[in-house]
Amino acid sequence: MKTIDEIRSEIESFQVENAENLEQFRLQFLSKKSEIQSLFGQLKNMAQEDRKEFGQLVNDLRDLAQNHYNGFKSVIEAAADKKTTLIPDITRPATQQSVGSMHPISIMMNEVRRIFEDIGFSAVEGPDIEDDWHVFTALNFAEEHPARDMQDTFFIELHPDVLLRTHTSSLQVRTMEKQQPPIRVICPGRVFRNEAITSRAHCIFHQVEGLYVAENVSFADMKQTLLYFAQRMFGDEVRIRLRPSYFPFTEPSAEMDVSCNICGGAGCNLCKHTGWVEILGCGMVDPNVLENCGIDSTKYSGFAFGLGIERMTMLKYRTNDIRLYFENDLRFLQQFKAATR
Ligand code: PHE
Repeated sequence: MKTIDEIRSEIESFQVENAENLEQFRLQFLSKKSEIQSLFGQLKNMAQEDRKEFGQLVNDLRDLAQNHYNGFKSVIEAAADKKTTLIPDITRPATQQSVGSMHPISIMMNEVRRIFEDIGFSAVEGPDIEDDWHVFTALNFAEEHPARDMQDTFFIELHPDVLLRTHTSSLQVRTMEKQQPPIRVICPGRVFRNEAITSRAHCIFHQVEGLYVAENVSFADMKQTLLYFAQRMFGDEVRIRLRPSYFPFTEPSAEMDVSCNICGGAGCNLCKHTGWVEILGCGMVDPNVLENCGIDSTKYSGFAFGLGIERMTMLKYRTNDIRLYFENDLRFLQQFKAATR
């Protein structure tokens, strides 16, 4: 039989590197069939006076083995933990991170903003819920103008003075009330009209409106600004045309078409075979509007324009149904990843 000293030195020189070694150690020194246990078995055959001393030595030996075992075990467990949590398998294929895309309407809003900001316009934002003054009265709408009608405007709880803005021209009023010319702002935002939803119209849509007021601002300035915008948006080959129109807040007023970028002017469904697509309304700010906002109309003049973002987006991305922009169908939205900036 091995002596206590021999077993002690075996314990002390035992190398444990993995879970298997650990189990061998346990079987050899701590199990019921271990050599240490059989030493305990010898106790009962011993003389009474030797028992105490021998028993103490075997006890110490067993404590030594137990301590070593505990030490080895915690090292091996920590290593196993590390393996799973800290050192992943570096040869494993990477998990795909899905990067979202911007909504096409946001992409277009940002693009329009950027173009105008480059020539000195700054963006202002304001409330969706407005009052009659900022949406209609200050903008020279006659008392009986049909736009004020409940058929066109969403009123809040039928209160005639609280409504959802039908255009962001309300922000032009808010700007002019606060600030004297020169004024050069664009007003991006969501607008609401009580209209039936079809492939070409929706009751919610987005606008970017613009306003420039200073001394000696002319119709020619407006035309040149809008041509610059159209060329940056659709390319240098694009042509524009202005058709006479009417808005209560501008005089003279016009609507602007761009040459159809789908058929290049030859005629297609989008341009209804005319070669032209209307993208905005514009005009010289009516002197009444300037005066309503506290600006001297004998000293200053200005132009304003408002464009519908959905229409522009449909033109740019060649989609034929405005409802796609409001349905949040991922199959549609994911196609705009490449355009997200
Ligand atoms: N506010 C008009 C609209 O919503 C657009 C517009 C703005 C027209 C400024 C002329 C001048 O249709």
